[in-house]
Amino acid sequence: MARSILIDCDPGLDDALALLLAHGDPNLNLVGVTTVGGNVGLETTTRNALQLREYLGFDKVPVAAGAAEPLTRQVRDAAHVHGAGGLGDVVLPEAVLEAHDDHAVDFIIDTLRAAPGSIHLVATGPLTNIALALEREPAIARWVASFTIMGGSYTRGNATVAAEFNIWADPEAARIVFDADWRVTMIGLDLTLQAQANAAVISRLKELGKLADHLIVPLATFYFNPNDEDWDGQAVHDVCAVAYVARPDLFTVRPARVDVETNGEFTTGMTVVDFDPPIANANVATHLDVPGFWAYVENVYARVAREHS
Ligand code: BDR
Ligand code: CA
Repeated sequence: MARSILIDCDPGLDDALALLLAHGDPNLNLVGVTTVGGNVGLETTTRNALQLREYLGFDKVPVAAGAAEPLTRQVRDAAHVHGAGGLGDVVLPEAVLEAHDDHAVDFIIDTLRAAPGSIHLVATGPLTNIALALEREPAIARWVASFTIMGGSYTRGNATVAAEFNIWADPEAARIVFDADWRVTMIGLDLTLQAQANAAVISRLKELGKLADHLIVPLATFYFNPNDEDWDGQAVHDVCAVAYVARPDLFTVRPARVDVETNGEFTTGMTVVDFDPPIANANVATHLDVPGFWAYVENVYARVAREHS
């Protein structure tokens, strides 16, 4: 039976590729998309989610807009990475259908309450909506079938030396989320940097025709710098979090205690990971079966591309 998945996101180049995977995989049933301010402002992340919904054809899936700002801090975006519009060079037709009337936080709570134990919640942006939902209804931690984030790292950051962007953008929210009564699966940078869309991947994706030309390849290459020797392609961070729900067999995860630094002079937003804790609050992903991952993702994308042509 297909796994139901609810995605809280900030599209975002890789968020868009993650939505494409959730929509295209017949083993996943996308039950809702909620948006948060992150890579770009909330208005733009929501507009992108609405446009992607219609362009890809998951019109019946509700899209609900959530928090525009972090819990306590100033907004800090990543438009320098994702472009001012959030989707790089990609321009999609304006959406006709509107967002859901409910706020994302209410939508998340009500959707999980209606189907306890059956929906896999995935967050690929700052954790503001999830923290607000936990504060309003702590029982969501029991109602999810699982909870997976793209965020954090146990080695290095990308927003700062110590902090990964989604945690750094709203560390207070991330702390609430890791401290809640559930086990977070953390798909952090250590894992997602293994999922780089390198030249071989891109050349196979280019075979997929129109959808690849207009959407997939531009999203997967927008900020790739071929002159940087450290890079073997742009990492598709958020795709990994969705892939984990469908194909956990591709990932190695280890139980750990994760704490979020909120006060550090140089380390705010850092996820402090103890792999030998008295009590674990997370499963932290460490290793990806890279060929298996790309075979899976490319297969799903090919399926959508065939329907889209
Ligand atoms: C994360 O930050 C965002 O810029 C990406 O969409 C991804 O969710 C990677 O650090
Ligand atoms: Ca994201």
